Amino acid sequence: MSGRAKLGVLVSGSGSNLQALLDACARPDYPAEVALVVSNVPTAFALERARTAGVAARALDHKTFGSRADFEKALGDALEAAGVEWVCLAGFMRLLGADFLGRFPGRVLNIHPSLLPAFTGLHAQRQALDRGVKVAGCTVHFVDPGMDTGPIIAQAAVPVLSGDDEAALSARILEEEHRLYPLAVKLAVTGAVRQEGGRTVSSVGPSVDTAGLRNPGEPG
Ligand code: GRF
Repeated sequence: MSGRAKLGVLVSGSGSNLQALLDACARPDYPAEVALVVSNVPTAFALERARTAGVAARALDHKTFGSRADFEKALGDALEAAGVEWVCLAGFMRLLGADFLGRFPGRVLNIHPSLLPAFTGLHAQRQALDRGVKVAGCTVHFVDPGMDTGPIIAQAAVPVLSGDDEAALSARILEEEHRLYPLAVKLAVTGAVRQEGGRTVSSVGPSVDTAGLRNPGEPG
């Protein structure tokens, strides 16, 4: 692949992680650009963010398709037609099947608001609070057909503070998500990390290992 990698970003909601990717892509030295944003929710604010940034955006409402396979075929077709090479799920609330993933092998990423493999699925921050963990965070991983189960690329940790409710913890994690996702996308599209079998392999060693790490409670 030459030049900047072409990203397709899939969204369902507010799109603050999309915004972080758009902002990163606006920097001339960033190795990727957003070629297309697709939302399965036609009213998602994320579509507004894409249009404001001058990026192609379209709604593909899964409810209007006869089957999951039909929806995923249309989604894959739209992404391919836009020249998309890498697919970034950013608050996209649908699982993707093997047929779709096979069209972008090893090139689909997701961000999840927990330190995987803990707390997969919905309401990860509430799950973390309910279990009383002291360290929470977020993870960017390659996507497989499971729910938040693919090989991990990068993680960032945040402290859980006494008095946190779901909103406060979610906001603290989200701040790290916005830092972590552009970093992980850069690592993937430059080949610094790649998916090999069920694992993430790094070609650049320890600098990747520490890039997505920060000690909770550390100043700054
Ligand atoms: C984020 O917490 C993300 O990790 C999760 O859904 C949320 C989406 O937020 N998958 P936004 O739409 O990017 O603001």
